Amino acid sequence: MLDKCLEILDRALDTPLFAVDCTLGLGGHSRAFLQKFPSLFLVGIDKDEEALKIAEKKVGGSGRAALVHDSFANLASIVSSFGKSPDFIFADLGLSSLQIDKPERGFSYMASGKLDMRMDKSSPLSAKEVINSWDQKELERVFKSCQEPRSRFLAGKIAEERKKGEIATTGRLAEILDANTPFKERLQTKKRVFQAVRMEVNGEKAALESLLDAALAVSHPGSVIMVESYHSGEDRIVKNFFSAGICPKVPPKFPIEPEPYFEDLTGGALKAGGEETEKNSRSHSVRLRAVKVLSASERVKNLRL
Ligand SMILES: C[S@@+](CC[C@H](N)C(=O)[O-])C[C@H]1O[C@@H](n2cnc3c(N)ncnc32)[C@H](O)[C@@H]1O
Repeated sequence: MLDKCLEILDRALDTPLFAVDCTLGLGGHSRAFLQKFPSLFLVGIDKDEEALKIAEKKVGGSGRAALVHDSFANLASIVSSFGKSPDFIFADLGLSSLQIDKPERGFSYMASGKLDMRMDKSSPLSAKEVINSWDQKELERVFKSCQEPRSRFLAGKIAEERKKGEIATTGRLAEILDANTPFKERLQTKKRVFQAVRMEVNGEKAALESLLDAALAVSHPGSVIMVESYHSGEDRIVKNFFSAGICPKVPPKFPIEPEPYFEDLTGGALKAGGEETEKNSRSHSVRLRAVKVLSASERVKNLRL
């Protein structure tokens, strides 16, 4: 989707000077943004210090990037410390390949490692604590958040198993899920449960909501906000936030007829093409949405009181 992102930015912006990559990861998108726009200064945010160290090598040497270890939920205060409004704000949600591929980070059900799942290793809550000490009802709620149809049953099985001994590795959690799931459904069950626990551990939905609110608040007329998501729940949050500005709805007989404050740059969600999905299986689920913030005059021109 990188090419599509660059194409959209190129079409929507003349000469972007200041941008924020909210999910720096290994710096792939940031590096491409800096190459595409030679006058750009970019702030790259990531919760993961390991990712920041790798990205530093890719974009740090440009002299046109500042890397920040923080959550993108704090976008407003991060941007205000630079004293400028971004021409574009980008987020590529979820995990980086570094996080998925390292068993010791505890995200993977494919290779066993410590049950961790923290993007930010300094944060207090790990998957081990959620799985071993959260109430069975809470576990059920977490699993349900990723549409796991057997949430109650699996939460019960985990509660039973942990009485026998701490569930300390991703391998052990995967084993419990497999032992209590019909063979054909095992992969999907592990995917859903691991994703649900990871999203809970990292507070991903709440962070995304804060990011979107902050992105609009720090934007200026003409700014672009662009988000890639890999999970239907996240994409729904982005879709609803963007739709509210593309086509604002008010109750019947409301005295104000609001004007759109976003222009839709992607016509809904863009998906990865066949060639990309063949090369990268993760891109199957990606949804790219982008909007341009309309000018203040466009936003208010048709208000009638
Ligand atoms: C899909 S990767 C980004 C990959 C990146 N676009 C690249 O080209 O290498 C997502 C990154 O976002 C980071 N991340 C996820 N949630 C975050 C949050 N709330 N605040 C800051 N970084 C976050 C993860 O640590 C991960 O490194």
